[in-house]
Amino acid sequence: MEKIVSAAIRMQKLIEDVLSFSRISSADSMFLFARTSLDTVLKSVLGDMEVMIESTRAKIHATDLPEIEANDTQMGQLFQNILGNAIKFRKEDTDPEINITAQLITGADITAPGHMRAHYKFTGWKESRRWDNEQFAKITISDNGIGFDQQFADRIFEAFQRLSATYEGTGIGLAICKKIVENHNGTITVESRPDDGTSFVIILPVSQANFDREIE
Ligand SMILES: Nc1ncnc2c1ncn2[C@@H]1O[C@H](COP(=O)(O)OP(=O)(O)O)[C@@H](O)[C@H]1O
Ligand SMILES: [Mg+2]
Repeated sequence: MEKIVSAAIRMQKLIEDVLSFSRISSADSMFLFARTSLDTVLKSVLGDMEVMIESTRAKIHATDLPEIEANDTQMGQLFQNILGNAIKFRKEDTDPEINITAQLITGADITAPGHMRAHYKFTGWKESRRWDNEQFAKITISDNGIGFDQQFADRIFEAFQRLSATYEGTGIGLAICKKIVENHNGTITVESRPDDGTSFVIILPVSQANFDREIE
């Protein structure tokens, strides 16, 4: 009986995750963009996660996050998914420690040779505009968890791709994150090493004015 119940709970979680994934990519998500304080969004996510944070003795440090033009609900989901992973994929013998930092950068910073990998893509960019002065928020979320081999860095953003069966999950969280970031004309990448923790880097335009909104 217990097995059936826990299988049913897992199935329910899967259905919920698939639904929220399809909601985010569907046309009826003509979601609102507004001036959004990422600080406020993060605080409310941390409030929602309080029980998980306390029970795992997770320490979360965050610098001030900027205001950007965004959908606050989706920004909340983005933080929640990534912080949830950072805590879930903790090491057995080390309390989770998560660092969230943000800085404002420009298009010139992004394309400067050697500064960042060349494959950062900002698909909605209107070619006619000046890229170099465009402002972006670069948010880094690092954990001290189990990490993974860098060769899987692209795969984990695909739906149902999971690197370990030992941990509970549906493998949809990061696919949702990627979709959310793309909805905002941004990029998300990850760097990781086994046993050495994981760092997600999210780059989001401060303003959507110079980007086309492409909603599938
Ligand atoms: N912070 C992290 N540390 C280590 N591995 C991670 C981290 N975040 C994601 N992963 C890996 O990426 C996979 C996909 O993540 P996700 O889409 O959120 O699915 P889920 O959390 O349901 O497993 C995870 O199963 C895990 O293998
Ligand atoms: Mg997850």
